[in-house]
Amino acid sequence: MSENVLDFVSVKLDDENSSVIILDQTALPNEILYKTHTTKESVWEAIYKLEVRGAPAIGFAGAFGVYIAIKHSLAQDYETFYQEFKEAKDYLASSRPTAVNLFWALDRLEACVVKHKDLPVQDIISKLKVESELIRSEDEQVCRSIGEYALSLLKPNMGLLTHCNAGTIATAKYGTALAPIYLGQELGYNFKVFADETRPLLQGARLTAWELNEAGVDVTLICDNMASIVMKNGWIDAVVVGCDRVAANGDAANKIGTSGVAILAKKYGIPFYVHAPFATIDLETPTGNEIHIELRNGEEIYEMWYKKPMAPKGIKTYNPAFDVTDAEYITAIITEKGIAYPPYQDSLAELFKK
Ligand code: MRU
Repeated sequence: MSENVLDFVSVKLDDENSSVIILDQTALPNEILYKTHTTKESVWEAIYKLEVRGAPAIGFAGAFGVYIAIKHSLAQDYETFYQEFKEAKDYLASSRPTAVNLFWALDRLEACVVKHKDLPVQDIISKLKVESELIRSEDEQVCRSIGEYALSLLKPNMGLLTHCNAGTIATAKYGTALAPIYLGQELGYNFKVFADETRPLLQGARLTAWELNEAGVDVTLICDNMASIVMKNGWIDAVVVGCDRVAANGDAANKIGTSGVAILAKKYGIPFYVHAPFATIDLETPTGNEIHIELRNGEEIYEMWYKKPMAPKGIKTYNPAFDVTDAEYITAIITEKGIAYPPYQDSLAELFKK
C-alpha cells in the first residue's frame, strides 16, 4: 500500500452525489474497499454491520446519514421539515446503542435545526451540511490533542498493550488510544505494541495490527487470552484503550474484554489509560450500570470468521459487544482538554468547565 495509513479517510460526505463514502472495515486487512451509500437505510446497515465502527466514526457517519436523508426534503415549512429530520435522526440512532458519540452527533444536528428554525428550509439544510462536516473535521484536532496528552504519560521504548481498534480508521485521523503511538512514532519513540486480537470480530487483528504495521510501528499480535502472559513477562509498561461511553463516575464501556485486561493490569501494577474525546463522556449517565450494552448475534462467535461453523448447530450463545471497566481500575482518562485522575466524578466535571 503506498498511501500513508494516517491519510486514510474512513468516512466522507460526497455532497455532489448526495452520498456517504465509507471504507468497509469488514473487508480489511485483505481489501481496501470503499462503498457508496445514498440512503439512510444503507448508512444504518453499514453502522450495524460494523463496516464503519469505532465511536467517533459512527458519530459522523450517522450525522452524514441524516444529512443525505433530508437533503432533498420538499418541506415548505419548519414543522414539516423538523418531523422529517426527527424521523431520520431517530432511525439512524437505532443502529447501535452503546457509543454515545452517535447520539451526541445526532443531537448536535438537532440543536442546529432548532437554532436556525427561523431560516428557510433550504438554508437549514445548508447549515446541517456544515455542521455534519464540522463533526468530522473537529475530530482530527481532538484526537491529536488526546495523543499529545497521552504521549506525556509514556516514555520511549515502552511496551504497550491495546485492545480492539481505537485507531485512525475509527476516527477522523490518529485515533484515540493509537494517537500517542503515531505521534511517538514521528519522534522515534520506538514503542513495542501488543495488539489483542479482540474476539469475536477481530478488530485488533484485522484493524489495529494492520494499521500499526502499515505505519511501521513494531506491533505483535496476540490472542486475547495471552494478555496475562505478556504482562507477567514484563513486556507491558502501559495499557492504552479507547472507549464508547464514559459515565460521570469514570466507569468506561469499551469493546468486550477490556475490563478483563484492566483487572489484569492492576494485578501486575501496570497503568491502564482510557482515551476519550469529550463526545464520548456522558455526564448524564451516573455509572457504568446504566450504560446500554449492545448484544449481538451469536453467529459472530461461532461462524462469521470461519470457513465452517466452530460450534454445534443451535448452540446457545451470549455475545455482548462491550463491557464496562470499573473506574477503580482506570489510572487516568485522557481527553482533548487534559488528563482526568480519580476521583473521576470531580475531575471529569472540572474538565468540562474548561
Ligand atoms: O464494536 P466496535 O468495533 O465499534 O467497538 C469499538 C471500540 O470498542 C473502540 O475501542 C471505541 O469505539 C473507541 S474508537 C476510537
